[in-house]
Formats: sequence, C-alpha cells, structure tokens
Amino acid sequence: MNNFNLAEISEQESYTNPMSEKAIGIFDSGLGGLTVLKEIVKLLPHENTVYFGDSGRTPYGSKSGDTVRRYSQQNTRFLLEQGVKMIVIACNTASAQAYNEVKAMAGVPVIEVISPGAQAAIAATSSQRVGVIGTRGTVQSGVYAQALTRVSGRPLRISQQACPLFVGLAEEGWWNNDIVRSVASIYLEPLIKDNVDTLVLGCTHYPLLTQAISSVMGPEVKLINAGRSVAEQVRQQLQRADLLNQQTTEGWHQFFTSDSASHFQQLGSTFLEQRIKAAGHVEIENY
Ligand code: DGL
Repeated sequence: MNNFNLAEISEQESYTNPMSEKAIGIFDSGLGGLTVLKEIVKLLPHENTVYFGDSGRTPYGSKSGDTVRRYSQQNTRFLLEQGVKMIVIACNTASAQAYNEVKAMAGVPVIEVISPGAQAAIAATSSQRVGVIGTRGTVQSGVYAQALTRVSGRPLRISQQACPLFVGLAEEGWWNNDIVRSVASIYLEPLIKDNVDTLVLGCTHYPLLTQAISSVMGPEVKLINAGRSVAEQVRQQLQRADLLNQQTTEGWHQFFTSDSASHFQQLGSTFLEQRIKAAGHVEIENY
C-alpha cells in the first residue's frame, strides 16, 4: 500500500456525518413518552433529544383516527423545525393511527412503538396466551393483534382490553394508590380469566402504573414495557444510517409541551426520576 492510500483511509476513518450531532425527536400525547425517552437515554447517553408532550390535547386514545393523524403531523412538523435527525413516535395510539403519515412527511427515520412491544411479548410468552392493554384507539385499531400474529408465526390466544382511565391517573401522578388498584382490578379481570402469562403495556403511560398492574395480575405474569426494545431499535436504525452521535460527553435534552410548562416540568421530573431544568410551551395548533 502506498502513502496516498494510507492518507485516504485515515481521512475516511475520521469522517463524522454532520447530521449525527442533531437530536432525536420524540413525541407523545403527554408525559407517557418519557418512559421511552428514559430508556433511550439509558442506552444512548451521548445522544441529544428534543421531547414534545402534547398534554394540552391529551388523551389521544379516545379521539378519532383523523384527529390523531392531524395532531401527529403537527407534532412532527414542530420536531422537524428543531432540526431532528429521527422521529420516535413514543405513543402507541399515534403509532397505530399515524405511522404512515408521519413517515411520509418526515424525511428522516421514523420509529414506532408497536412492533418492538410485540417482539418482546412473543419472546416472553411460554403459554402463547398474550394480553394487551392500551387506549381505546389502539385496541380498536387491531394493530397489536396483527403485529403479534406476524411476529409469532404460530397460533396465539390474544386478549385485549382498553383501559382509558389509566392515562388520566398517570398524568395526575397517581401510580399506585387504592383508587388505581381498584380501577386496575376491574379492567384486568377478563385478562386474569383468560390466563395470560404475558401482558403488553400497550400505552407509554402504563409503565408508570407497573406496580399497581402487577399487584392485580400477580407476580407470575410478565409485563412488557416496550421502552427498552424501542431504544434498541433507535440504536440499530441510527447505526444503519450512520447517525449515531460520536460525542463522548453526555447529550443534552430539551422539553416542550402544549400545556403548562411548569406542570410538565414538575411531573415530568418525577416520571424521569431526574430534574427537568426547563420546559418550553408550544402553540402546537400553529404547526
Ligand atoms: N401514551 C399514549 C399511548 O401510548 C396515549 C395516551 C392517550 O393520550 O390516550 O397510547
């Protein structure tokens, strides 16, 4: 090998894709997507993130598909304006109703949260009896049943239950008190009767209620929080697109909401178990 080739190789090795320094954009209907953000930061501490929580228009789960698509497109437009290199739809309802629309407009990789959850559930079940809880929108869309069947490739018994009140309880910061446990025991009764051995927490708010849900389902039922699998998908897609941030320092994190910034900051810090120093308010209807 001559000197010319050597010089060429070292130049290639030091090349950094300038896009890789951009942030990952993440949105949810409110605070629930922070459960996904938390896993992304744990796995990819050098990545920068911009989070948008649409708390002013939450819940998405009881809204029509058209409304959820319009909201998701506005959220995406806001994140793209921040110059993000990837969009993570950290909301099952929006992933179920608006993935194609977001993907069509984004021009950057888009990650949804349903397939990673389905894969984790199939890896966990041994009886092939899988339960799914989510918002009304997610359950009615049937996307989990499709994804689970596609991933499994063998006969499954899938039991689904919409738990719309869980979102309000989570946003209120009520995660494991008597009221949450009694609401959970009413919602989860059919799943206990169906003897599921694995339960997909098919809404990004629900991991916050893990203790209450587990106390009702019993310790032998495996609860699937897709956050970790979503973070792994993010890592793989960034790597494939040569977009992994090469910085060696910790990433920065920005937070925005369509509702009260101080409420978001306060409750979001509890969700994240880490202080959110500042949050910005966004007039999302202008996007
Ligand atoms: N966190 C959301 C989800 O994963 C939506 C909750 C809602 O707004 O209804 O579906």
